[in-house]
Formats: sequence, structure tokens, C-alpha cells
Amino acid sequence: MAEDQGDIAAAHPSPAVGDPAQARDNPANRPDVFAFFDEATNTLTYVVRDPASDRAAIIDSVLDFDYGSGRTDTRSAQAVADFVRDKGLTVEWVLETHVHADHLSAAPWLQQQLGGRIGIGDGITVVQDTFGKVFNEGTAFRRDGSQFDRLFSDGDSFSIGGLTGRVLHTPGHTPACLTYVIGDAAFVGDTLFMPDYGTARCDFPGGSAAVLFRSIQTILALPDETRIFVGHDYLPEGRSAFQWETTVGAQKQGNIHIGGNRSADEFVAMRERRDATLATPRLIIPSLQVNMRAGQLPEPEEDGTRFLKVPLNRL
Ligand SMILES: [Fe+2]
Repeated sequence: MAEDQGDIAAAHPSPAVGDPAQARDNPANRPDVFAFFDEATNTLTYVVRDPASDRAAIIDSVLDFDYGSGRTDTRSAQAVADFVRDKGLTVEWVLETHVHADHLSAAPWLQQQLGGRIGIGDGITVVQDTFGKVFNEGTAFRRDGSQFDRLFSDGDSFSIGGLTGRVLHTPGHTPACLTYVIGDAAFVGDTLFMPDYGTARCDFPGGSAAVLFRSIQTILALPDETRIFVGHDYLPEGRSAFQWETTVGAQKQGNIHIGGNRSADEFVAMRERRDATLATPRLIIPSLQVNMRAGQLPEPEEDGTRFLKVPLNRL
């Protein structure tokens, strides 16, 4: 939560906070990154490890959900937990790049299994306010982000063992989207995808193509050799294997939506045209209700069952 912001960074002072140029000269600030790909939702979960201390962070976890039966499953999260235990890692953070609309977060389950603090951007309060209204939530649903352990603001820093992470506010896909720059690696969530797939949609409530364009410029201002890890991959035509790692340099050169110094106007026109053709994500209704609660399921009713709502003709 907000009251303890800054304590972790203060415990591990670093002169070059999350600066990839520094990481190049200092292997201690180059994290090991392990990716887990969920084929059901095309989502990447990352385990980020400080090689010097075996401290780790988990970014964008997945709770499996079968819409037909209403059943959740921890199969995907279990694979991450098994990996963490197998490698003997200590989890310090369970991070979200944003409130996802296409999969449920397993952050509370992973926290229960492995420890760590659940973090997201402080713009979560805007998202909670918006979707608190959409789902007609009562006063028991807090809109102050207090379901999370830490709310990050733009420019905040945090540590994973001896690694330093820096937070960039990169809205546009949603108002609360963050990029976590950890050593020489940037976890960009849903902003940029692989260069041959382009960028994230901007048509959710609070989204904006013009704002995303500016956020992407912030990411592209990082050094060219910065490793970029994307939040999803959807196998564009002409590619046969999923990919998730690229670089700032490769994005600047070859991203089909933004590369080659595309202008803001061109990007916005393209993005809005494309967004008008996209279907609503299959899991948006369960995902938002769970993820705006930091991955907690709604409180059970008198019979002990937890329910999700379907607002009709609203989204
Ligand atoms: Fe998303």
C-alpha cells in the first residue's frame, strides 16, 4: 500500500535505477527471465530472477477459468509455483502490469503459496471506480486500491534482491498500465507486442490511442539494447512459433504499427480503425470482476458460493 512506498528502494540504494545502460556494464543488474505461455489466453507470465540472490518477482500470472462450467483451476499457476520452488527462489513481488480483461490473475493464490507482495499501478483506483459502476458493486467493494499491497506511481523504484526495478506509467490500453524496467529488461504488458504483431487495443473504457502512442515513445526512449518482454503473443500470419522477447531497437525499426518513426496521427487513425473491428475479449466479464479485486474472487453469498455478474447490454 501507499504508506510503505519507497522503503524497499531505500534499503537497496542504487545510483542508476533500472538503467539498462548501467545493466550492460553491470551483469548484477541483468535479470534472468523465465517465460510461461498460456495458450488458452495467449498470455505470458514471467518469473524474473536476481542471479546474485535468487530473489524473484512474478509478473502477470494466470488463473485458469473455464467459462462453460464456471470452474477455476490453478494448473498454470502451479507450474509457476513448482518452478519457483524447484529453483529455490524467494518471491518478493507478484506484479500486475494492469487490470487484464482477457484472463484472471492468480496473484493471491501465488502469494499464498510463495509469499511476496502484490503490486499494480496507482491508476487502479480509476479502473475500480469505472468497473465498480459497470458491475453495480456495493460499498463493500473498495475503490482505493487497498486490495493490493503496493500501488506504484510513475518513477517509483523497487528491488528484487540486488536488482533495481523502475516503474513507468504507460497508459493507453488502460489508464493504469505500467511498464516495469528491471535492470536491462522491460516488461511492457499490453503496450507493444512483438514487432510483427504491433500494439495493444485502446478501445476499453479509459483507453486512448493517442495516450498509448505517447506511452510507447517513453518505452522506445530506453536504450536500443533494452530487452522487451511482451504481455501476449497471437501468432501473426507468417509466423509458426510464439515469441515474447524483443528489443527496443527492433521495435523502433520494425514494429508494424509504430516502427520507422510513424507519426502520432497515423498511429491513432490506424489503431482506431483496427479497434473498431475487434471482438470483445471472451473473458472480459469474469476477468474485470476478479482482477479489479487484485485477483480475489467476489465474497461468497449465504450458501457459501461465490458468484460473478453479467451486466446485460453494458459493455
Ligand atoms: Fe490487457
